[in-house]
Amino acid sequence: MCGIVGYIGNKQAADIVVKGLKLLEYRGYDSAGVAVIDDSTVSINKRKGKVEDLLKMVDVSKIPGTLAMGHTRWATHGAPNDVNAHPHTDSTGNIALIHNGIIENYTVIKTELLNKGYTFKSETDSEVLAVFIGMIYEKVHDVEMAVRLALNEVEGTFGLVVISTHEPDKIIVARRGSPIVLGIGDGEYIVASDASAIVEYMKRVIYLNDDEMAILTREGYSTKTIKNETVNAEIHELELNIEQIRKGNFDHYMLKEIFEQPSTFKDSIRGRLLVEDGNVKLGGVGAVAEKLKNARRIIITACGTSWHSALVGEYMIEHLAQIPVEVEYASEFRYRNPVIYHDDVVIGISQSGETADTLAALREAKLKGATILGLVNVVGSTIARETDAGVYLHAGPEIGVASTKAFTSQLAVLSLLAMYLGRQRVLSMADGKTLATELAALPDKIQYILDRADQIKQISLAYTNATNFLYLGRGYNFPVALEGALKLKEISYIHAEGYPAAEMKHGPIALIDENMPVVFVATKDEIYDKVVSNLEEVRARGGRVIAIASEGDTNIARLAEHVIYIPNTLPQFTPVLAAIPMQLMAYYIAVQRGCDVDKPRNLAKSVTVE
Ligand code: G6P
Repeated sequence: MCGIVGYIGNKQAADIVVKGLKLLEYRGYDSAGVAVIDDSTVSINKRKGKVEDLLKMVDVSKIPGTLAMGHTRWATHGAPNDVNAHPHTDSTGNIALIHNGIIENYTVIKTELLNKGYTFKSETDSEVLAVFIGMIYEKVHDVEMAVRLALNEVEGTFGLVVISTHEPDKIIVARRGSPIVLGIGDGEYIVASDASAIVEYMKRVIYLNDDEMAILTREGYSTKTIKNETVNAEIHELELNIEQIRKGNFDHYMLKEIFEQPSTFKDSIRGRLLVEDGNVKLGGVGAVAEKLKNARRIIITACGTSWHSALVGEYMIEHLAQIPVEVEYASEFRYRNPVIYHDDVVIGISQSGETADTLAALREAKLKGATILGLVNVVGSTIARETDAGVYLHAGPEIGVASTKAFTSQLAVLSLLAMYLGRQRVLSMADGKTLATELAALPDKIQYILDRADQIKQISLAYTNATNFLYLGRGYNFPVALEGALKLKEISYIHAEGYPAAEMKHGPIALIDENMPVVFVATKDEIYDKVVSNLEEVRARGGRVIAIASEGDTNIARLAEHVIYIPNTLPQFTPVLAAIPMQLMAYYIAVQRGCDVDKPRNLAKSVTVE
């Protein structure tokens, strides 16, 4: 949430910073701003709206200076307007900062500052921090010390970059709860919320830990805690490559990411299937293999789309490994004193690896003695680093705010984990082999659906004026119905609900009329006939049925207004295939309605606040 970038070196800085902001815009796009220090003065340009709106106001390539920082905001405190946009300054205008996170005790600090005669321009907690640092600076005359002393008084979270005309050749960075990556170049450094803003220029990075700071000058850098203890930070080599974060020939990142799924799914299972043994190899969980074997219960915690994949995971693990599984919204789990046993395994699923609620839920579980695992996409992210063990998704950077390829990769990794746990317990080699063989066949089946995207587009266009949608499915297809509804509402702003198909008659059936499109996932499995009965119930009430059905099912064409066929697979893998037409439908409908699919209103991709 909120993207931050800073540069110090010998190049024109504002351009580098703004390029980085564009790549981080998925983190928030309520406002954008840049501050540059040149010739011991700081110039700030900031504006409500997207980075593009800022660029209409100022030609950043003309701003001289080799030290700059920029921010793209997802509003927490104060409306998204020009004044509340970052950077903010202290009362003298000499110290400027950008901030990602929430200063929870800002009202206390603000009252104290108001009593001392300080005034504020914005409604933000971040400006309070800037003024607070400025006040301390007046006493200590050392920017780093002022930042450090201020942060020791602050409650809440921060990813912070501070620059100042008092010390115009220095960037000070700090982190608690909001990610910060430092790119290490030759006489130049980039600091950013994530590595995508760095990779074009530098491959060596440091991930700051909570309560750590970094001080960057053109001559070198140092890292320390905010208590002023030295930190010997480890340098990592980035695996990311610049092509992965380009849009290529696609109109939107979301479409690119949907079409990448045959290869991203393959990447998620690559080298992990032992088809002949009917087993899988998961290097990342080797260290906790015994704990997994002895787990009495598994709790999976996540938010948003990742929570939907967790539900599929629950069904798979219970089915294949016979371990009781509970799925929890991370935001609920962390605040309700959950019962956690020492032999519980708690799994956090997160594309970004930074979602504040998921991270906090995992920390809570760890504190209470559980073994914690992360199924995470972003390498080096906080969840990846703080968990006892884990499995990376290997889906590559996901930039469209609505998650697509990360979802199917989560399903891939959960399938692997369920098989691994199953083989430790009750799953036979023969069944393992069947699953492994089918898992390996899925990328081609995803491709088969994508090759028919035009057909899905034509169907979608018939529904662009709908105001409501229902998504129904049973068994493994229930969570994917939830995900289909989420995709549509996120990017097209059409109200949509996902429901278990049979549960529909206990409420949502009242909504059915001739204006209500209902997407049924009705694939050929054990409960197919029951789903078809539910479909008949909708039809009898005039609902417009779009069926996602198994190829070869001619019967369903009689019952549905439109049918989208997907290849046959095992029931546990239908969510992977059913998700694809749902993603495409949401995309085509949203584009037709003129929505900004990559940056839907009010959303952000990486939610690092509670
Ligand atoms: C945000 C995003 C969703 C995402 C959720 C969880 O709400 O908009 O697309 O599913 O966060 O994110 P995570 O990175 O933890 O998977």
